[in-house]
Amino acid sequence: MKKIGIMSAMVEEMNTLLEVLERDEVVTIGQREYHLGKLWDKDVVLVFSRWGKVAAASTTTTLITEFRVDEIIFTGVAGAVDSNVSIGDVIVAENLFQHDFDASPFLLKHVLPLILKKEIPSNPIVRNKLFNASSDFVNNQIKDVISKNYLEDYSISKPKVLIGNIASGDQFIKDDAKRNEIKSSLDNVLAVEMEGAAVAQICYEFDVPLGVIRTISDDANDNAIKDFPKFVYNVASQYSYQIIKNYLA
Ligand code: ADE
Repeated sequence: MKKIGIMSAMVEEMNTLLEVLERDEVVTIGQREYHLGKLWDKDVVLVFSRWGKVAAASTTTTLITEFRVDEIIFTGVAGAVDSNVSIGDVIVAENLFQHDFDASPFLLKHVLPLILKKEIPSNPIVRNKLFNASSDFVNNQIKDVISKNYLEDYSISKPKVLIGNIASGDQFIKDDAKRNEIKSSLDNVLAVEMEGAAVAQICYEFDVPLGVIRTISDDANDNAIKDFPKFVYNVASQYSYQIIKNYLA
């Protein structure tokens, strides 16, 4: 049976999934705990990578080389860099960029050596399935899963699911200048985070299908410092739980 690696950067983004993991067996490698077990009858390995591209890349490599996963799903939060994107919306990654990669003058800014592209795409089949799983969640299930108080608190009424580009870098984005610089230097970026493009590069190099879903926790501006932790601690893992459940079940 296919084995699926499910990753988050922080335990808060996936603890509700860990709570329902059946036959949980923990293997520790490189200070990461890999939880092997079953979710909705599927073989899975759950792991949180820690923050940033290096941490995410090493965790991805271990999922592929040690645990032989056939597919990877990354689920977590991101900051919005597009004015049509709001807190509570879900972005399903199409292409992933490393916004802080710059080997100029040898290569154009953002172009990855040898790969010779700026962007790495997610797998289109996984992406479309994640879009459907996320749409089902926001259209039909969100009110059953997230309390009315939280939905009101974050002004989440009709959240959107968008397929779009994501930029990753080793920086928490918290001001308009940096947000606008990322937005204007890369094509159609909807959100920023700190891991997705690193996972995408490793999956591309090992030819493992990848899907990335990111719930918007903040607007990557000066409110991000308070919006991000509040959203992550209160709501993020409920999004992950129900979307991953829809995806697997
Ligand atoms: N993840 C969630 N919000 C973020 C932000 N503003 N910058 C980087 N990563 C994030």
